[in-house]
Amino acid sequence: MRKILAVLLVMALAASMVMVVGCKAKGGQLIGIAMPETHVQRWVKDGFALQTEAEDRGYRAEVQYGDANQPTQNQQIQSFLTQGAKALIVGCINDGVSSVIAEAARDKVVVVAYDRIIPNSADYDYYITFNNFKVGVLQAQSIVKGLNLDAASASAPKLITLFAGSPTDGNAFFFFDGAMSVLNPYIKSGVLRVIGPYPETSADTNNFQRIATENWQAPIAKTRMENLLSNDARSVTLDAILAPNDTLARAILEACKADAKYRGKLPVISGQDAEYDSAASIKNGEQYSTVFKDTAKLAEAAVILVDQVLKGQAISIPGAELATGDLAEIGNTGKKYVKAYLLDPILVTKDNLNVMVDAGFYDDRLDRGILLLN
Ligand code: BGC
Repeated sequence: MRKILAVLLVMALAASMVMVVGCKAKGGQLIGIAMPETHVQRWVKDGFALQTEAEDRGYRAEVQYGDANQPTQNQQIQSFLTQGAKALIVGCINDGVSSVIAEAARDKVVVVAYDRIIPNSADYDYYITFNNFKVGVLQAQSIVKGLNLDAASASAPKLITLFAGSPTDGNAFFFFDGAMSVLNPYIKSGVLRVIGPYPETSADTNNFQRIATENWQAPIAKTRMENLLSNDARSVTLDAILAPNDTLARAILEACKADAKYRGKLPVISGQDAEYDSAASIKNGEQYSTVFKDTAKLAEAAVILVDQVLKGQAISIPGAELATGDLAEIGNTGKKYVKAYLLDPILVTKDNLNVMVDAGFYDDRLDRGILLLN
């Protein structure tokens, strides 16, 4: 019930903010903003920030949330095109979006993939995101520190179980591979043991599918954790859990909390997104870490990118770097390499929770009781 209320609250706030911002909209070219979902809190913030940034730069902007439903997102994008949008900023749900992106290309509409790559498409040129490999590296580094793995011995290995994000989202692979680049050496040397499936990298498709979480749905991760606790992890006590984002980390923790074994001490668990509820959980000593991706900066960068492309200017985005070398892979759609501009993620534990507050990341219209963190 509390969860339903919280979801309704977020949606009501999102709707009211869209209306408030919508009233400001005047003339200017239209930018269509397609966000994937609202069940992960960050996207509500992203939509709001993108619309504000676009309108502050003289554009008209409309935001739609796809509700993790791909046909819905395609209809929303189609409607932007019908309304004569000059640019689209798209956080896609999956590769099913590529057909409407092809239409946008035919209409010469500028498309920017936002946070998530638009896979299997050769019909756009730009992508703005974070260094997603580094997100995973930071998640794993926090686990190494939380378990003091550098002092652990193979005679008393620490036990971890692995979760990954949605296999429909290109980011999930980078997060996981970044994390495993840090964890694999500890697993190889025997000081860390994996309970449950162990894909060494996301290229082990079978095992990756077993730990993946379709559409980043919290109930799926919670049920998988419950199953682990009563099967593979039944006769052991887990020391750590690799969780790919905050929404899933909290769902996994709920499952652990229902198990008497973990009542005194929860496993060290990673996260991502610096969601308000996870910051509160970190403060209370439950979730161990999160990765702060300043999505207000991402939104600003996306609108600057659109603005420069529409005006035919050279691209120069403060705080974002063009991915080159190994990182250029982040811009591989499967059909071509798009220009991927990367922002830097920051690891947050109990020791530096103030980073988000100082950045002005929490907004009392969207995040409850921010003062709790001060
Ligand atoms: C984003 C994450 C988010 C996840 C689920 C990913 O593409 O990069 O920030 O937690 O989607 O919405």
